[in-house]
Order: sequence, then structure tokens, then C-alpha cells
Amino acid sequence: MNTQLLQVLADGEWHSGQALADAAGVSRVAMWKQLQKLQEAGVTLEAVKSVGHRIVGGLDLLTDADVLSALDPATENLMGELQVLQQIDSTNRVCQEVMGDRAQPGKAIVVSAEQQTAGRGRRGKAWVSPYARNMYLSVGWQVQGGAAALQGLSLAIGVAVVRALQDLGVATAQLKWPNDVVVGRQKLGGILIELTGDMAGPCSVVVGMGLNVNMPEYAQDGIDQAWTDVYQQGVKPARAALIAGVLNQVLPLLKHWEQSGFEPWREAWQTLDAYRDQPVNILMGDKRIAGTERGVDRDGAIQIETTTGVQSFHGGEVSLRPQS
Ligand code: BTN
Repeated sequence: MNTQLLQVLADGEWHSGQALADAAGVSRVAMWKQLQKLQEAGVTLEAVKSVGHRIVGGLDLLTDADVLSALDPATENLMGELQVLQQIDSTNRVCQEVMGDRAQPGKAIVVSAEQQTAGRGRRGKAWVSPYARNMYLSVGWQVQGGAAALQGLSLAIGVAVVRALQDLGVATAQLKWPNDVVVGRQKLGGILIELTGDMAGPCSVVVGMGLNVNMPEYAQDGIDQAWTDVYQQGVKPARAALIAGVLNQVLPLLKHWEQSGFEPWREAWQTLDAYRDQPVNILMGDKRIAGTERGVDRDGAIQIETTTGVQSFHGGEVSLRPQS
């Protein structure tokens, strides 16, 4: 991806072929090939003879400087490394790799990208990740206490992400157990936490967060569930400001997590619970349990009231749906 070319075209204005070739520092033939690559990545280009080329609607491009300049001082102190990449397979995969090479205690490795070609969702699903439209963000952090210390972390991260959205004026976002960000019954974002290292001792956690910001029409076919995006909530934050806002919430959370655990986040999670007191089904493989959703217990397990009383369900195969 030629970033100089993109930076010129990002304003959505018309640019002549020669001006673009000059900006990219390449011949006109090479410039044409670059434009083709952009189109292949899903960028909607328009060309008019003797006028030039433009990106319809322009593009909100990410820079690391824009992200860094919007960080709180306390967050800046917790940043070990920030990478804002163009096109990669998965920010979680890259973040795991960088953690393997350069993880430091008390410092986050942060990886974001304009596009993921193999974005990972929960339960082996793909995460649709079109170019320069959404937020794909991974934060790597070292933990001492292994998997046990991470109980409830993904729920607390959900609260942190919703708070970041609220700070930017998105008042409609709620949570669906275990860690979907939703508006009503539509999915706005998701969280995927992956662990590497000693599951019983020092290890690295990668917190992957995806938010639909301005989902283009061409990408919608790949999504197999009801969804929405931030723009549809009536606000259009710059993606760099959104990333910084999420980091301002998530990095202090990670810093205190091993002391705090889920307990101080539980009440906030319940307040944002979109399915509280609703009739639900819990699906566990072929088994379906019908009941009423009664919030989460102190470990973050979902509590369902059935005819036999209240039962807690932990992650894994459990999924939650409204009863039809
Ligand atoms: C879900 O299925 O709800 C979780 C989706 C998590 C997607 C994010 S996008 C950034 C990070 N990199 C990935 O490959 N996945 C996560």
C-alpha cells in the first residue's frame, strides 16, 4: 500500500494522474498499479478522464502521531511500543509476536492496523476488517498469575471500551455477555483475549478489540449477524481519537488488574448489561437451557434463573440469545 498516494487521496478531492504520480514518487504506470491495489483493498476510487482520481467520501487515515497526541499522560507512561500498521493478517497475531520479542513488565505493546486480512473473532470466526474504516486494536500486557488471574478480564475490558465510546458521545453502547459491545440486539464490537506462555505463572495476555466505526457496504456480506457501527449512532469520531480513548481506559485497567480483579468492575458491567432480566437461551453444544438472565457473579460467570433456581455459566461454548 503506497501511503504517500493514500495521504494525497484521503481528502476526497480530485487529483490529476500526474499529481498523484509525483506525490507517490513513481511513474504514471506504476501509479496506476498502486491505484489498482487500493481498489483491491476495497477503497472506492472514481476516475474521470482529464480530471483525475478521487476516493469517494475521502478516508480517515490513522497515524501513530495522532494516536499518541490524544493519550492521557498516565496512559503515555504505560506505553511500551505503538505500531500503526497498514495491512496485516491480525493485530492479535502481530502483538503476540512482538510480546514474545520485547515484552516488558508494566508496559503495553499496542498494535493497530488499517486492515486485517485474517482478523480473528471468537469461536474461530473471522472478523470482517475492511481498509481504513473500523478499529482493530490489540494490547499486549505481561501478567504474573497465569490464566487464573484473568478471570473476568474480558468483561471489564468491555466496560472500558463502552466508557471510551461514551466519552466520544456514543451514548447507546451496552454489553452482551461475555464480551460483545452492542446497541440493542446489534453488534458494534467484540473482544478476543489470547494468552501465551505459562498458563499457571508469568504469561502474556493480548487483548484484541474490534469496533465497527464506518462499515462500508462492500464488506457487509461477510457478516453473519445483526450489526451496527459508530457512525450509525450519530457521531463521527476520528479513528485515532477512538483508539486513544480506548487506550486511556484499558491501560490503567491492565496496570491495576492483578490487584483489583473483576470485583470493582462487576457493578458497572451489570449497569451496561443489555440482556438483564430478559428471557434467554444458553446454548452449550446441543444443550439449550432457557431462563432469565440475572447478571454476572463475582467471577464474571453469567447467572441464569431457571425453574430449578439460579445457575452460573462460565465461558467457552456458552452463548446467549433472546428467546423468540
Ligand atoms: C468477537 O468475535 O466478538 C471478537 C472480535 C475481536 C476482533 C479484534 S480486531 C483486533 C484484534 N485482532 C484480531 O485478529 N481480532 C481482534
